[in-house]
Amino acid sequence: MASLSASLSLHPLIPTQLIPDHQRNSCAKWRSVSFQRLEFQSSLQGSFRQVRIAGSSHQKAQALVDSRTQALDVPILTCSEAIERLRKNRENHKGKQQFLAMYSSVFGGITTDTAAMVIPMDDHMVHRGHGVFDTAAIMDGHIYELDQHLDRIIRSASMSKINLPFDRETIRRILIQTVCVSKCQKGGLRYWLSVGPGDFQLSPSGCHQSALYAIVIQDQSPFDSKGIKVVTSSVPIKPPQFATVKSVNYLPNVLSKMEAEEKGAFAAIWLDDEGYVAEGPNMNVAFVTKQKDLLMPRFDKILSGCTAKRVLTLAEGLVREGKLNGIRVDNVTVEEGKNADEMMLIGSGILVRPVVQWDEQVIGDGTAGPIAEALLNLITEDMKSGPSTVRIPIP
Ligand SMILES: Cc1ncc(COP(=O)(O)O)c(C=O)c1O
Repeated sequence: MASLSASLSLHPLIPTQLIPDHQRNSCAKWRSVSFQRLEFQSSLQGSFRQVRIAGSSHQKAQALVDSRTQALDVPILTCSEAIERLRKNRENHKGKQQFLAMYSSVFGGITTDTAAMVIPMDDHMVHRGHGVFDTAAIMDGHIYELDQHLDRIIRSASMSKINLPFDRETIRRILIQTVCVSKCQKGGLRYWLSVGPGDFQLSPSGCHQSALYAIVIQDQSPFDSKGIKVVTSSVPIKPPQFATVKSVNYLPNVLSKMEAEEKGAFAAIWLDDEGYVAEGPNMNVAFVTKQKDLLMPRFDKILSGCTAKRVLTLAEGLVREGKLNGIRVDNVTVEEGKNADEMMLIGSGILVRPVVQWDEQVIGDGTAGPIAEALLNLITEDMKSGPSTVRIPIP
């Protein structure tokens, strides 16, 4: 370290502040002994500086000096410069989705400036995954199933030992106001409850206040009803204690989705520890059996989907019309699933999506089935004109 400190202190491009105090003292002594063996060359190459040190015994020191000098090229920004760069970055990387408004309890308000839509680095949700989230669709000036999703996030927060930053009614009011400010007509609301910012420890004991964040995302794309292919996931399913919580720990879900995409499929289906059909990475699964029953896996080891539960209620209309014989929530074997007349994925992001192939097995006659189509129509209609229990008007 002495040789490095000396070389750094002698070099005109390296401020002595970079050298820790305890090493600065040893520099002078080292300089008199070893300086003859070093020859400094400073050159500007492209945008970074290089220091060359003659003498083979100093290759290690050279690498360190190089990395120190290169680090000097990183700009040091004021707050407004950083924000300006965040804004430019957003403008340069516009995706399909537009972020219209964000609420943060950390700054205690709503912003429509995308550059300010950030959360603190020391929030334990960022570096420990200690946070939960939920969603709700926005359609025609209404928020769909907000209360059902709110119940679920509060349950998830309790299972994750996250205290609510506000009571339920206040959280609900903040979410509705954020959507109102966004002026979004069609899209989605996503919100997070985090144990909060504080430090970089594992325990949240240093987090002074739990946090609420929410964002409104505009999405005009229509819901797709084309039949899709699924595969069985080789990524292990989360154990029930974690699968039933909608936490931000979605790495297994992400890897499972990526595995599906690599195999040319839309999603990968998880089986539970007993080999029964479980769920997809961000959707539930349902089948229409040969006996014309709507069959859905039990919810005790998977996420209790708000859309799936609504579909179970809406499907009662199809039973009354004689299109379905009955509705069952039960264990589903892979054999039963693969031999079903219809298979579908259900979730707030896709609503109801028919599956026409699972691994090598063609489902039914290989085309999108009539029950999946009827359920998609029913839920779309419910979003547009359902009862007040599922549609919250945006003021
Ligand atoms: C793992 C998982 N299962 C099921 C669902 C479907 O839930 P919902 O219909 O409430 O969106 C989701 C939603 O994101 C999910 O992440």
